[in-house]
Amino acid sequence: MVFVKAIIGLQYGDEGKGKQVDVDAALADAVVRYGGATNAGHTLEKDGLKFIAHNLPSGVLYDRKHPNAYGMPVMNIMGIGELVDPEITLTELREVRALGFEPDLSIDAKCPVITQWQKVFDCGIEAALGERKIGTTGRGVGPTVMAWANRATSLRMEDLLDPYLEGRVVDIVRQLSREIIAFHPDFKGFHSSTVRTAIAPPEGHPIRGKLEGLARFYAKELASWGKELAGYITADTFRIVRDPSLQRMVLCEGAQGHFLDPDFGYRPDTTSTHPVAQQAMVGGGVDHIDHVTGVLKMYLTRVGSGPLFTETEGKDGEYLREQGGEYGATTGRPRRCGWLNIPEAKEAVLYNMARGIAATKLDVLTGLKEIPIATAVSWKKAEEGYILEDVSYTRLPGWEDDLSGIRGWEYLPRNARKYVEFIEQSTGIPTETIGVGPGQRQVIYRQSYIDLMEGRSLPIRMVLKERGFL
Ligand code: GDP
Ligand code: IMO
Ligand code: MG
Repeated sequence: MVFVKAIIGLQYGDEGKGKQVDVDAALADAVVRYGGATNAGHTLEKDGLKFIAHNLPSGVLYDRKHPNAYGMPVMNIMGIGELVDPEITLTELREVRALGFEPDLSIDAKCPVITQWQKVFDCGIEAALGERKIGTTGRGVGPTVMAWANRATSLRMEDLLDPYLEGRVVDIVRQLSREIIAFHPDFKGFHSSTVRTAIAPPEGHPIRGKLEGLARFYAKELASWGKELAGYITADTFRIVRDPSLQRMVLCEGAQGHFLDPDFGYRPDTTSTHPVAQQAMVGGGVDHIDHVTGVLKMYLTRVGSGPLFTETEGKDGEYLREQGGEYGATTGRPRRCGWLNIPEAKEAVLYNMARGIAATKLDVLTGLKEIPIATAVSWKKAEEGYILEDVSYTRLPGWEDDLSGIRGWEYLPRNARKYVEFIEQSTGIPTETIGVGPGQRQVIYRQSYIDLMEGRSLPIRMVLKERGFL
């Protein structure tokens, strides 16, 4: 039976999931995105090229001309759990083509569509929240999930191919008149009393024509994007990932991280879809999960509002941000930085049933005299949010050596190994890979990873040889 591996974020997103998927995809038949949307930014860097995947799965850089270890393109699937922004998907497809790749892509016909008006609402709601804003990516995620739960105001990818699309969009826009008048720039200056009377404005009401004009414009755009994407829109993508002829590996690519999950994160400062591994079965369609690898950055970052109990704002924070290039891959915002939080890492490992860690960005810690790791954190909930009560740090000694060229565990400085071992002991699971730079080859493969792959008869040694590791 095919080996199903989920790669998920154990922190607040941006752990380096994209790179890990790219590293693993050499051995995979398929990569399926099962959650998130264009709020994600998954960076792939190899052979001198760089691509940031927002909607596209991170296996797109394995095509017919750049095949995986079996000489095949990797199938990239956007599962039903992923919200699709058709405009951004098309832009990304153009970008990968410009880099010389022609990905094998399937978009589930049932994927919810992120529409232009939902992006307008996302930004409008954030602005209205003022100080209490979540700091969303502005990509329309919250309002799209709201519409999806509401049902009557949401669209699926298959609807873009529907001859009745225009009528549906007019109807949806009419249902959402109040929000559109409140938030859409074209309706600036409309009095708030108009907003109150404008819920499904009656025939002949002056605002109705303006709304309909906007709706028809949106519908035309959506239809044209649908037409361009039609060749990729596929019914029941779960049949692809469950196809019995797949014998090697299916990778389930998580987006965001455990503490951004709307159920398990610190509400309201979360996203609106599920980053957790369990979601891979609903949103990706796999019929089982054999192994969960949790991606753990060797320190913490967060974009947007919400608690970051180990945040370090002074020169250490600046050091991590600059050394680690901690600026959002989607919005370019500087990421807040902090130290590793062991109680949180343990919680995320436990909840997601992670069996191994993909440790990332160890190289970024080079040059620090000592590295604090939070081993006990207490907080309470108050009216103004989550308040840190106490945090205890264990301070491990740092190292000076540049790690970016190291490819073997035994060549790491002793203190770097001790740092990693401390994390393994605290979380109770092994590290499978250790990242020492953004490039696909800047990885240290631990024996646990090799054993895992060989245990499933995957030709890991061949890949390592090809990549110059053996
Ligand atoms: P994702 O959202 O989890 O896929 O992560 P992002 O792509 O948003 O952010 C991770 C950033 O760190 C990207 O710029 C990667 O190229 C980079 N990166 C990944 N792994 C490593 C690593 O081990 N070392 C360094 N220095 N950079 C890394
Ligand atoms: P990847 O997959 C980091 C954060 C936003 C904000 C909150 C809600 O690249 O790890 P949203 O736009 O989802 O409504 O924003 O979630 N956020 C992320 N932070 N990495 C991500 O994705 C994120 N996706 C959303 O910054 O705080
Ligand atoms: Mg990211």
